[in-house]
Amino acid sequence: MSTGDTAERSLEHWSEAGRTGMEAFYALATEDYRQLALAADWAHLLGQRARDGWSLLDVACGSGKFPTALRTYADLGEVPDVAYDLLDPSAFSVDETRAVLAAPFVARHDLVMTLQDLPDAYAGYDVVWATHALYALPPAELDLAAERLVAALAPGGLGLVAQATAASHYLVFYDAFRAGVRDATPYTTAEQVRDALVRAGADVRDQRVAYRTGTSDRAVVEGFLQRCAFDDSVSLAEMESAPVLGDYLASCRASDGSYTFSHEAALLWL
Ligand SMILES: C[S@@+](CC[C@H](N)C(=O)[O-])C[C@H]1O[C@@H](n2cnc3c(N)ncnc32)[C@H](O)[C@@H]1O
Repeated sequence: MSTGDTAERSLEHWSEAGRTGMEAFYALATEDYRQLALAADWAHLLGQRARDGWSLLDVACGSGKFPTALRTYADLGEVPDVAYDLLDPSAFSVDETRAVLAAPFVARHDLVMTLQDLPDAYAGYDVVWATHALYALPPAELDLAAERLVAALAPGGLGLVAQATAASHYLVFYDAFRAGVRDATPYTTAEQVRDALVRAGADVRDQRVAYRTGTSDRAVVEGFLQRCAFDDSVSLAEMESAPVLGDYLASCRASDGSYTFSHEAALLWL
């Protein structure tokens, strides 16, 4: 089995060439961020940390879906502006997020690098979050990544890592894809991230949110699943007839052909 494959395919897809696939994915996955925005009193949590010169680190900023959901579903009108640093190994992602940020989030540094590579100098953040961010992180580098994240947070700061659990669609799907279509390095689960954060010295509170997404539009299902696997060479019909993966997809499909995917996100509060 190769080891760098999943991380490499993730980086290839977080690019201008991967824009169509990204947009297909978010036809369903925008719900992941709405759920996070509704799971806490964000105006209160952020307001508590606000002070002159405060700062926030968005780890694996993607395309800015989480700050966008916060601005849509949380009332941040009273939260003072915060200097917002964007970390992602994809320059495309950093640019995408920078383009959608708006008050109270004020873009500051572009950190085009992996979390594992974050230098010591980037520390003292009042808020650090990583939302649906660390799946493609190679398991062997998870402890280092967790140490970097914990070290970046100021004492008393607010940290959140939101990630799907092992029982959730993204993890179950990718395990079935690996078994039935193409072997690859597995995704990192919320449970593995939580244990790594604890090993890194963090005091972690684990909040769970369960929800479903779905559609009867096969083109949407195909685009969503291809992005879940960072592989747009396999059609929905091929996935449905693959060993292991076909069984999983059958369990998500109703008799009318519509699909429902079950999700459980862990909100790991530091
Ligand atoms: C699903 S997106 C995250 C979504 C984002 N949090 C949002 O609010 O839209 C995953 C991102 O993780 C990034 N990524 C992958 N490996 C990473 C690593 N080791 N360190 C930091 N970011 C990574 C990818 O480049 C991609 O932009």
